[in-house]
Amino acid sequence: MGIQSRSSKNFNRLENILIIGNGGRENSLAWAIQKNELVKKVYLIPGNAGSERINKCERIKIDINNKNELVENLDFFKIDLVVIGPEIPLANGLADFLRNLNFKVFGPNQDGAKLEFSKSWAKKFMQDANIPTANFWKVNSLEDAKKIINSSSIPLVVKADGLASGKGVFIPNSKDECFKAAETIFNGRFGNSGNVVVLEEKIQGPEVSVFALCDGKNYTLLPTAQDHKRLNEKDKGPNTGGMGAYSPAPLLTEDYLNRIIKEIIEPTINELNTRNIDYRGVIYFGLMITESGPKVIEYNCRFGDPECQTIMPLMDQNFVFLLEKCSMGNLNGDEIINTSDKVSGCVIATSKGYPHEYKTGFKIDMDKIDTNDCQIFDSGTSLSEDGKLLTNGGRVLSIVCQGKDFDRVFEKAYKNLKKIHFEGIYFRNDIGHQVRKNFSKEN
Ligand code: AMP
Ligand code: GLY
Repeated sequence: MGIQSRSSKNFNRLENILIIGNGGRENSLAWAIQKNELVKKVYLIPGNAGSERINKCERIKIDINNKNELVENLDFFKIDLVVIGPEIPLANGLADFLRNLNFKVFGPNQDGAKLEFSKSWAKKFMQDANIPTANFWKVNSLEDAKKIINSSSIPLVVKADGLASGKGVFIPNSKDECFKAAETIFNGRFGNSGNVVVLEEKIQGPEVSVFALCDGKNYTLLPTAQDHKRLNEKDKGPNTGGMGAYSPAPLLTEDYLNRIIKEIIEPTINELNTRNIDYRGVIYFGLMITESGPKVIEYNCRFGDPECQTIMPLMDQNFVFLLEKCSMGNLNGDEIINTSDKVSGCVIATSKGYPHEYKTGFKIDMDKIDTNDCQIFDSGTSLSEDGKLLTNGGRVLSIVCQGKDFDRVFEKAYKNLKKIHFEGIYFRNDIGHQVRKNFSKEN
């Protein structure tokens, strides 16, 4: 099929959707997208063992790095919209490549993905646009890092500039630890991602995640969320990809969210425009609510995981239209997207040892789950040859529930979790502690 026919004949059709990625995030996107009756089929490349339990979903087992095969499959399955989940293909320019072939794509081009794949670039971007963020220094060598660390009277956070699967941020407690962190990064722990280091003033406050669907000019916000990054209860232990989340985040009142819009979201979109970056995808604002106001900790060019699993069940069947509008640059910005009056919560079940070394291949039993207002999105699973569900990642399952209030939500989530068994299963019992009225701090 030629480029011409692809662009003219099928542009308004929305029957076949392709999602790229293999996590709980992508499964929850598929689940929300298939709700629309116009959608006939949702394909996932590569997806995981949970993908085909979702209505209308089918996996395509090809390597997305093989561009020819990818395009052949897009044409063969008559794909009307491509949704790119993870940051790596976006950083590698997959959206640019597919857009140039006239596919409709949700996900920014490489220039927009730079908000996530270069922290120093993102910091300069914020500085230029007067967007509140922690003070920073960009350094190209250990020598320069040492000079800044030595002369600083405040504790500094040390970050690898590029993508590092969430592992490139160090929060040292002393100058010595700061040196060690900079040394680790410059010594190549994160490959080229560590050629540049960003040193940042350490700031404090609760963190929230805000997601703006963006069509290049206009944007619309999804319900807010709070993630739980630390491995252990009471927010202790190492950072992880996220151990659970809840949405919306009551911490962000309407007034405060308006302040964030004025000080952060709109200036970000204006600055993208100033730089001629036509951003068609989601901007994930990782924010810290400090004493002096909201500050950007990081931008991501994708949905958060597990925030996405938490938010998707609050979406109605029109969600896919929003993604399509973003891809086509015709979002109005006044779309009402959250039609549910419920709240949502997610708890992640992990393999023992995560986020460090862990074993996989354990059989998962999860019959008897209460499926009323409750979803299980597989994060890291596979199927054995005889069709049994096995663990296949650090984060294994996302258990997501909705209800009138967070107490009910998490009561249901934990009741269901008790019915899930695999060797070494681990989860935090205090997800949502900030918003559970019945939660006893003694737990
Ligand atoms: P990032 O990958 O940039 O989101 O950083 C991971 C985590 O490190 C964040 O979620 C924060 O908890 C923490 N962090 C990052 N930057 C700072 C900072 N400047 N001050 C305090 N904590 C930070
Ligand atoms: N939940 C954190 C992230 O997706 O980066």
